Amino acid sequence: MTIGEILRAATVIPVLEIPSLDKAAPLAKALSAGGLRVIELTLRTPCALDAVKVMRDAASELIVGMGTIRTSEDVKQSIDAGAAFLISPGAGPALLEAMAASGAPSLPGIATASEAIIAYEAGFSAQKFFPAGPAGGIAYLKSFTGPLPDITFCPTGGISAEHAEEYLALPNVACVGGSWIATKQMIENEEWREIESNARRAATLLHA
Ligand code: 3PG
Repeated sequence: MTIGEILRAATVIPVLEIPSLDKAAPLAKALSAGGLRVIELTLRTPCALDAVKVMRDAASELIVGMGTIRTSEDVKQSIDAGAAFLISPGAGPALLEAMAASGAPSLPGIATASEAIIAYEAGFSAQKFFPAGPAGGIAYLKSFTGPLPDITFCPTGGISAEHAEEYLALPNVACVGGSWIATKQMIENEEWREIESNARRAATLLHA
């Protein structure tokens, strides 16, 4: 799949921090049962790489991307682990080059117009806008539509269920990401029903 196809399958991407491998399968099942198809599994815990395969095996329809990619080594390890796509919170020249060279669908992170242009020049017309809320939120991202008409964004960071629809109404937003669907605490507490119900509500959000 291309990154465009993945983002079109998404609307809402849960951003997940998985504390231990035993949580991976039930988490995947809860998100999938709630109707979500695309997830960002962050590379922030030691078991994250192993969790990719466990989640794919538990819910084969899930498209499992690896997030918090910061280095070329992260790119390589994530692809080897079976990640379907790559997401970064920001990107310097080396990471952009590694993402492009890997051929894997990738969503580099940006927070300013200059960073968006640099990533676009490196071949990325879909980008993560991070941290969306603190960086300026809906008004800030809306102001990119005129000068940066060829770039679509997945805003993430500080987005709640309440704000998600407002972001999705922007013409330059492909989908939104956030941890509110399954927070670290909820995963630790094994709140699978609550996660499924948050996923179901998120899956009903419509793109404008
Ligand atoms: C991310 O990695 O994209 C963010 O940590 C998710 O942000 P949130 O927790 O504010 O949703």
